[in-house]
Amino acid sequence: MKILNPTYIYINGKFQENLAVAFNEKIEAIDSLEKLQKRYPNATIEETEENAVLYPGFINTHVHLEFSANKTTLQYGSFMPWLDSVIENREELVGECSNDLMMQECQNMMRSGITTFGAISSFGAELEVCRETPQKVIFFNELIGSNASTADMLYNDFLERLDESKKYSNNGIIPAIAIHSPYSVHPIVLKRAINVAKTEKLPLSSHFLESQAEREWLEDDSGEFLTFFQKFFNSSKSVTKIDEFLESFDEVPTHFVHVVQANREELQYLANKGHSIAHCPRSNRLLGCGRLPIETLIELNIPFTTATDGLSSNNSLSILDELRAGLMLHHLGSLEELASLLISSITSKPAEIFSLNSGKIEIGKDADFALVTLPAKPSSLESIALQTILHTQEVSNVWISGNREI
Ligand code: BEZ
Ligand code: FE2
Repeated sequence: MKILNPTYIYINGKFQENLAVAFNEKIEAIDSLEKLQKRYPNATIEETEENAVLYPGFINTHVHLEFSANKTTLQYGSFMPWLDSVIENREELVGECSNDLMMQECQNMMRSGITTFGAISSFGAELEVCRETPQKVIFFNELIGSNASTADMLYNDFLERLDESKKYSNNGIIPAIAIHSPYSVHPIVLKRAINVAKTEKLPLSSHFLESQAEREWLEDDSGEFLTFFQKFFNSSKSVTKIDEFLESFDEVPTHFVHVVQANREELQYLANKGHSIAHCPRSNRLLGCGRLPIETLIELNIPFTTATDGLSSNNSLSILDELRAGLMLHHLGSLEELASLLISSITSKPAEIFSLNSGKIEIGKDADFALVTLPAKPSSLESIALQTILHTQEVSNVWISGNREI
């Protein structure tokens, strides 16, 4: 048994003092240090510094590890020039992306407190790294292909990758399904994949309404995607419409990524069907996609997570960098409340969305922790989330299932 006795513990969305946590692989007890020591006299006390804040391990729901080699290659500022640059440089970037590089990025994520992440995998090449990293991984096998003539072949390849990931479901891998997007997946295979997620109860995610160009293409087959599809796919018509795509997910609560360009009616539809959203503030800014109106998500009660996306549309995979961006982007409303919401978006919210036994400091949950040390005493308990986001470049320690990894 181990005992952690930090200055503050994040429990139920609030910061509490004079509490300690006893844990093995799971959290066994939460009480005063004296009581825990009496109950577990042989427990080891884990060292913490003054002004240490214990959080549940952070969860990054959406990352593309295969683009970890990108630093300055891709074109930022607007979605279509970015997508063109991805297509032009994809082979080179994926070729440069070694297992060592991806593992370094898993370590970088861990230094920002991430103990679980959702990896979007288009080829399955990340599986080995995801198996070996100490973090738990929701392994999203991605389905792509809008062209009817190749859709079957791509679907079978997707099923094979999904089966391969299932072999490691006891080794920290949670097999899952990702749909690339409405514009890039043929509706027939889309429905088949959603059905697999439904019958096998697998986590499901999809990029959705990321850019204005996507909206124009889905609404009336026009805009920058028209040139793109004519050039690469010899096609002038979108394979689906916004409503049709959304309705396909009616029976399976899905984690939709970006959703920046959805209107209020579409957001209300997501709320009605129990869907959730992954918010990637830096990716949206760098690709010129706009700002997700999180105040509307709050009003409509749509759960959302904050995620980094990949290094194809970001300058780091630090979830703390991402929260700082979110804090600066959403200038409406109370600053401290926003900070608290952002912390919940990488802890309790993703855990609830994906039914993970983590994301909360609670008896029986996995002992996944991120320990942050503030530079000085915070002015109030209510300011701790904000001060954590502002001042933490790297966490002090990380535990995953009770093992100290940093
Ligand atoms: C497709 O396979 O249809 C596709 C892939 C990437 C971007 C757009 C479409
Ligand atoms: Fe993404």
